[in-house]
Amino acid sequence: MSLLPHKHLLSLADYSEQDIAILLDTAERMKEILDRPVKKVPTLRGVTVVNLFMEPSTRTRISFELAEKRLSADTLNFSASGSSLSKGETLLDTALNIEAMKIDVVVMRHKSPGSPHFLARHLDAIIINAGDGCHEHPTQALLDMLTLRQKFGTLKGLHVGLVGDISHSRVALSNIIGLSKMGAHVVLCGPTTLIPRGVERFGVSITHSLDETIRTCDALNILRIQLERQEAGLFPSLREYQAYFGLTRRRLDQAKAPLTILHPGPINRGVEITSDVADSEHSVILQQVTNGVAVRMAVLYLLAGAQPVAAETKM
Ligand code: CP
Repeated sequence: MSLLPHKHLLSLADYSEQDIAILLDTAERMKEILDRPVKKVPTLRGVTVVNLFMEPSTRTRISFELAEKRLSADTLNFSASGSSLSKGETLLDTALNIEAMKIDVVVMRHKSPGSPHFLARHLDAIIINAGDGCHEHPTQALLDMLTLRQKFGTLKGLHVGLVGDISHSRVALSNIIGLSKMGAHVVLCGPTTLIPRGVERFGVSITHSLDETIRTCDALNILRIQLERQEAGLFPSLREYQAYFGLTRRRLDQAKAPLTILHPGPINRGVEITSDVADSEHSVILQQVTNGVAVRMAVLYLLAGAQPVAAETKM
């Protein structure tokens, strides 16, 4: 029984403002557990989670596994390499076979957009999207929103710039959906070739000037140039990209007030952001990573936990 009116977390589009607020509030409570000397509670004892990662990941994979362990779930890790996928087994057969071993939750990362939705149609298990191609990365947007809320107290009325490769970024779409639902205003900044046509329908502003974005925003989420997903020729060279859209200390100094800098990682240092900015006092990049564990604990607890929220005092 889910503590949210949802069985799965596939897309933030399915979640209301209230659902997102519950997730963020629960993540704050989970953070308290992470600050204790003994960072473990029995909340998900008896629940089995398989982390089905078919694309590389450092932050998401480790933080999901840590979140599962902190909540006392039984955790299994599946990697495509070394599995029977290499012998021709389909994704669905692989998932059905894993489910036949009596697992409760599948955390899935896959290069194909919609693959978690596909599994949700065929499996009884709870499915959590940990990034599906260029589509969505809901838990990343939740941890970005949690980090911004901690910094500013509220998301309402905040101006957040998403800078760079919007077209190939699942982080961008989940942030656009989540931040808009929570009352923030989203500004997209990047080369024309990296901003999807029709994205205005989400109520965002679009600019091709990083300097303008810096002058008008409270926070910037700098997106990685996704070299592995791009066709050639979307911008002339990395050097030219850096010249127009790379965040440098000189550019940052034009901000009306100190800007908060986020980056989902992994960082291409010297391309979308220079090291002196990424490591500066304005950066909350490592705070995002810390919040990632709390957010994933909250998602697992709310979707797979059977206790009512009032019983959380036992955690
Ligand atoms: N932000 C993020 O998804 O990072 P990983 O690819 O390392 O999981």
